[in-house]
Amino acid sequence: MAAAPLTEPFRIGPVEVPNRVVLAPLAGIGTWFVRLQARRYGAGLTVSEMVSSFAIHHRNEKTLVELLRIHPDERATAPHGPVAIQLFGPDPEVMRSAAATAAERGADIIDLNMGCPVPKVCKTGAGAALIKDPDTAVAVARAAAEGSGLPVTVKVRSGARTGETDGYALAVRLVEEAGVAAIGFHPRSAQVHHKGTPDYELAARLVEELPVPVILSGGLKDDAHVLAAYEQTGAAAVMIARGGLGNPWLFSRLLGLREDEPSPEEVVAELEWVMDRAVEHLGEDRAGRYLRKFYPWYLERLGASKRRQEAFQRTASVAQARALLALGEDALPAAA
Ligand SMILES: Cc1cc2nc3c(=O)[nH]c(=O)nc-3n(C[C@H](O)[C@H](O)[C@H](O)COP(=O)(O)O)c2cc1C
Repeated sequence: MAAAPLTEPFRIGPVEVPNRVVLAPLAGIGTWFVRLQARRYGAGLTVSEMVSSFAIHHRNEKTLVELLRIHPDERATAPHGPVAIQLFGPDPEVMRSAAATAAERGADIIDLNMGCPVPKVCKTGAGAALIKDPDTAVAVARAAAEGSGLPVTVKVRSGARTGETDGYALAVRLVEEAGVAAIGFHPRSAQVHHKGTPDYELAARLVEELPVPVILSGGLKDDAHVLAAYEQTGAAAVMIARGGLGNPWLFSRLLGLREDEPSPEEVVAELEWVMDRAVEHLGEDRAGRYLRKFYPWYLERLGASKRRQEAFQRTASVAQARALLALGEDALPAAA
């Protein structure tokens, strides 16, 4: 059967998603303004960076104010799709309370992280550690649904170690026993982190097996590859992660909203938009440091030299970065 066009809506439980192009959860990146950026370029569903259920439960101020922040523009911007807040943690009761808070703060969907391979997360029993503890994983997912009253989705790896498919088995259990409404499937093992080729064959099997949507993640970087993986797996939707960093135009092209790569002027204007929104979120000082992570993505697209890239990394404020951006490559001051 031919895959539905990426522009076609689908449902996650009772929630309608206006198209099949999704912004992946990205730790340290997926704030409201990165989600809003993806939305402006057409993303049907956006997922927050992972947020600690413990931090929410214990009312950590920064977590509540910054990480759970959903901006009104996210809702006001076409295609008006849902926002999922991704939570992590191994304790069902803590998850119940955190999911309730995320719902109060305006989440449409609770996404649970059962794929993060980072030792700091796994040693607490969260993220990919839950692949090895499926009973707890099911209890956590049930508690999230009960606490929030929202559809719960889970993002999971194919397995804990390469060659294993215990992540696949967990996905099946989560749907059957916890009523999970969709699975975000990243068919690489937790062991390889983000390296290696995703096992799209395994994803296709999961699509066949599950009665709920499977959202495909992994290796979805350029237009042709995304479309091929979508066709090959029969997934309900595609999740853009590294391919979308500093590259919101990918969302638009996948949805047929544009065909070409952005002009240098568009790239500069987009970086300026990101700077404005980062300042709105964090204030001038913190935004100045935070944005250093973002500059390389845009500068690379502008063909910036190593020297120009380094100059941006030395900026102490957003104002300095704005001045550098206005100067252009040719007017860089001589190397310090
Ligand atoms: C910087 C970075 C941060 C990430 N943070 C999260 C996260 O918070 N939650 C999550 O489920 N996955 C996270 N991931 C995994 C991505 O969502 C995605 O599954 C993975 O990058 C594979 O897709 P890709 O090969 O297209 O990048 C992260 C990946 C990267 C590169």
